[in-house]
Amino acid sequence: MGEQGAASGAVQPGEDALKSHIPHSARVWNYLLGGKDNFEADRQAAEHSISVKPDMLEQARADRAFLGRAVRYLAGDEGIRQFLDIGTGLPTADNTHQVAQRVAPECKIVYVDHDPLVLAHARALLASSPEGECHYIDADLHEPDRIIAEAGTLLDLTRPVAVMLVGILHHIESGSHAIVRRLMDAVPSGSRLVINHPTSVVHGERSKNSARTWNESGGRPTVTLRSPEEIAAYFDGLELDEPGVVSCSRWRPIPQIREPEVDAFCGVGRKP
Ligand SMILES: C[S@@+](CC[C@H](N)C(=O)[O-])C[C@H]1O[C@@H](n2cnc3c(N)ncnc32)[C@H](O)[C@@H]1O
Repeated sequence: MGEQGAASGAVQPGEDALKSHIPHSARVWNYLLGGKDNFEADRQAAEHSISVKPDMLEQARADRAFLGRAVRYLAGDEGIRQFLDIGTGLPTADNTHQVAQRVAPECKIVYVDHDPLVLAHARALLASSPEGECHYIDADLHEPDRIIAEAGTLLDLTRPVAVMLVGILHHIESGSHAIVRRLMDAVPSGSRLVINHPTSVVHGERSKNSARTWNESGGRPTVTLRSPEEIAAYFDGLELDEPGVVSCSRWRPIPQIREPEVDAFCGVGRKP
């Protein structure tokens, strides 16, 4: 395991290390996905965002379903065996390693998150298949060089890696495109970029209000919505896999199941 991330800050004796009175992204997400690893402040913030944006639960489920389909596609059809999953979240059903190792047990997964509660639950993320490997780095996406340096000791960076940024880039207010470029510069040809990012093109004001109320409530980290064009720009220089950047419920959906569009757009791109 990596050392305590700089962004987590040194915890003083008696201090509430988890800052349980402040809604935190990983815990609110856990509540939206039906988990129990959250506090009252997280539940209140989640319920508030559902009251402002009733399709919030649908969006959270569509995000996880996209993550599962993308990992199955990459491990299955595309033969990817290494995954760098940044912004992992609290363990839930079908975490990246479980999906990937069901397809190919030898897959190696490196998880990265900066939340102390995710770190505390990391054991559940490290239950690798005997043939594969799972690791956890406690680090902040604002420090891509540190993530690359630590991941480089765990993954073979001369072989393709799927860099997964699912539901995290909206927590980076500025400089997010440069961070993605830095990460993709560090991985070889054949590597993939997997992104899912909230937007407001589908539900307009409801989605904007939800982001605004989160930011005004003091929820951490803050949320920045981006347009599909800004999301597509993360893939500049990469070859976008079909169907391109679309609402995540529409990315390679299970045939015959046509879910409504949600305000989270996603894509998978290949480094040439
Ligand atoms: C909305 S959850 C998404 C979890 C998971 N990827 C999914 O899609 O279900 C966002 C996660 O990103 C993490 N996160 C947010 N900002 C981060 C940062 N700057 N560095 C590392 N992790 C971050 C949060 O702690 C949280 O676990």
